[in-house]
Amino acid sequence: EKGGYDHFMVKEIFEQPQTIYDSLRGRLDAKKGTLTMGGIREYASLLKEARRIIIVACGTSWHAGLIAEYIIEELCRIPVEVEYASEFRYRNPVVGKGDVIIAVSQSGETADTLVAMESAKEKGAIILGVCNVVGSSIARLSHAGAYTHAGPEIGVASTKAFTAQLAVLTLIALKVAEEKGSITQQRFQYLLDELDSISEKVAATLKLDDQVKRIAHKYKDARDFLFLGRGYNFPIALEGALKLKEISYIHAEGYPAAEMKHGPIALVDENLPVVFVATRDSNYEKIVSNIQEIKARKGKVIAIVTEGDTSIRSMADDLIEVPAADELVAPIISVIPLQLLAYHIGVAKGFDVDKPRNLAKSVTVE
Ligand code: F6R
Repeated sequence: EKGGYDHFMVKEIFEQPQTIYDSLRGRLDAKKGTLTMGGIREYASLLKEARRIIIVACGTSWHAGLIAEYIIEELCRIPVEVEYASEFRYRNPVVGKGDVIIAVSQSGETADTLVAMESAKEKGAIILGVCNVVGSSIARLSHAGAYTHAGPEIGVASTKAFTAQLAVLTLIALKVAEEKGSITQQRFQYLLDELDSISEKVAATLKLDDQVKRIAHKYKDARDFLFLGRGYNFPIALEGALKLKEISYIHAEGYPAAEMKHGPIALVDENLPVVFVATRDSNYEKIVSNIQEIKARKGKVIAIVTEGDTSIRSMADDLIEVPAADELVAPIISVIPLQLLAYHIGVAKGFDVDKPRNLAKSVTVE
């Protein structure tokens, strides 16, 4: 049932080229330059006129929502908020007609997400669901939506569902931008092509498994980890930290790299591994100087960079080179080494990576 893998978690990590492909298939046709989103077709005009989009989710799905916020704002020029479902539901939120809620959930059963969307629906908002489980409660409560086609996710830590969510949320953003006319034909086509090649790049990234495993063994006894990124890669820093906490029980925090100097930099010394998600994008020069700040304080730097990077090479203690991609889709690639890092550290420490202590696969209580 684990298809020759030792754990579901690693099996699911390695399924990602296929599950991302499955989530794009039938929707994206890069050759023809078309994008079909059957599930949201009727709502596409409402979406493009939305005064605001609010994404509600928990955990890893919330991280996917944070990336979608950046993508939707960039491509559609519609304000987006991302809410922890549990916070949104308990504060009598200002929401109503003209608002579109996107509920993101692997299981489609997360109690907080479900109740948050129920109350927004009562107040007149349009509800879209992005779920992995067909016919789940969240899927049924939505007016419309798009499934991720990641297949059953058994490992408690979400991996392939996350990258499928990113793929589908990017498709939704592109569809709305196309309808709205807020994207040029040229950029639209370029991003379709970028998405079309993403599965192959994820497959190439998975070939780094042995290298990531060696890095995992080197740092497995660290007491704390920091994960830093900027822009589209900032939520990947949060996700890397969450995966590590869940699977290896090492304390880890994710931050936007620029926030370091507002406090967390006080933690940096020669015992602290700092993982930088520093692929080539519009924030690149800034993150290079953040790496220098960490090295100046003797922190250990593990950097996820774009293949062929030369500036960071001389500064990093460990370098993980991933294929180049447009910054909007780069998170789908840059999260892969972080999933593997958490996995290998958890295994090296002898923990049950498929069933981490205290965690349930789907949180159906408030
Ligand atoms: C992390 C993880 C959790 C879930 C969260 C939401 O690896 O699995 O943080 O992402 O409980 O679950 P869903 O997406 O099913 O609503």
